[in-house]
Amino acid sequence: MTVVLPRPRAAEHAERIATPRRYLMCRPDHFAVDYAINPWMDVTRGADRALAIRQWESLRQTYLALGHEVQLIDPEPGLPDMVFAANGGLVFEGEALGARFTHPERHAEGPAYLRWLRAAGLKTVTEPVHVNEGEGDFLVVGDLVLAGTGFRTDPGAHGEVQELFGVPVVSLHLVDPRFYHLDTALAVLGDHDIAYYPEAFSPGSRAVLQRLFPDAILAGEQDATVLGLNAVSDGRNVVLPSTATDLADQLRAHGYTPVGVDLSELLKAGGSVKCCTLEIRA
Ligand code: ARG
Repeated sequence: MTVVLPRPRAAEHAERIATPRRYLMCRPDHFAVDYAINPWMDVTRGADRALAIRQWESLRQTYLALGHEVQLIDPEPGLPDMVFAANGGLVFEGEALGARFTHPERHAEGPAYLRWLRAAGLKTVTEPVHVNEGEGDFLVVGDLVLAGTGFRTDPGAHGEVQELFGVPVVSLHLVDPRFYHLDTALAVLGDHDIAYYPEAFSPGSRAVLQRLFPDAILAGEQDATVLGLNAVSDGRNVVLPSTATDLADQLRAHGYTPVGVDLSELLKAGGSVKCCTLEIRA
C-alpha cells in the first residue's frame, strides 16, 4: 500500500496553527519508583513524590495556559505508574481502544482507564484483545497511526487498531531498551510532521520513517536521552522537557514554538511530557 502524505514546504513553516486539544492526565498522588520495568527505573534511588506532583502540576498549568482542556482520572493507590496516562488507551475520532499492560505491576491500570473512557461520553469503547500500552506505542499522525513494538505492545495490537478504527497502521520496531515505547523515540508535531531518534529503530523501520517523513526533524542522542521526544504538540506549541535544548532549537527552525517543562522526577520512572498525557480525540 502506498501512503501519500502532502509535504510541507519551507515557506509554510512560518504559520504553524495550534488547535485546541482535550487531554487526560492523572495526578501522581501515588507516584513511586519501587519496581523496575524499564532501564530508567532505579529502585535504590527512589523518587520525591511531592516534587513529582509540583512538576506534574506545572505541566497541567502549561496546557491550560495554551488553551487546552485537561480532564483528570482519579489516581489509584498501589499504581505508582498511573501518572503515565498516555498508556491508558488510544482515542481516535471519538472511539477508544483500552489498554492491556505488559507487566503485572501495571495490569490493574487497564480496567481503571477503561472505566474512565466508558464514562467519558465517547462513541465506542473497546476492550483490547492483544497487549497494547495505548499512546505509549500508538501515535496518530493525521490519517495514519504509527505503532511501536519490540518491548511492550504486541504486533497483534497493530492489526487490532487498523481493523477497529479503519486507519492505516505502520508498524515500527524499537531496538534500544531505553526507548521502550514509541513515544520515547518519536514525537508527532503536526498532521504530516514528526521528529524522531533514528537509532532507536531497526534499519527497516528507519527506512520506513525516512520514506514517509523525508522532512522529519532528526533528534540527536543528547536530546533523546533526556526524553526530549516525549513531547506534546498542538500543531504549533511543542511542550517538551526543558533539557532538550538542541531539539528546541530545531523545532524553532521548523516554525514551532518549544515550551520547556521540568519533569525530572517523573523521568526517574522513564516518563516525561507525552507519557503524562492521553489525547482524547473527538
Ligand atoms: N514506568 C513506566 C513504564 O515503564 C513509564 C511509562 C512511560 N509512558 C510512556 N508513555 N512512555 O511502563
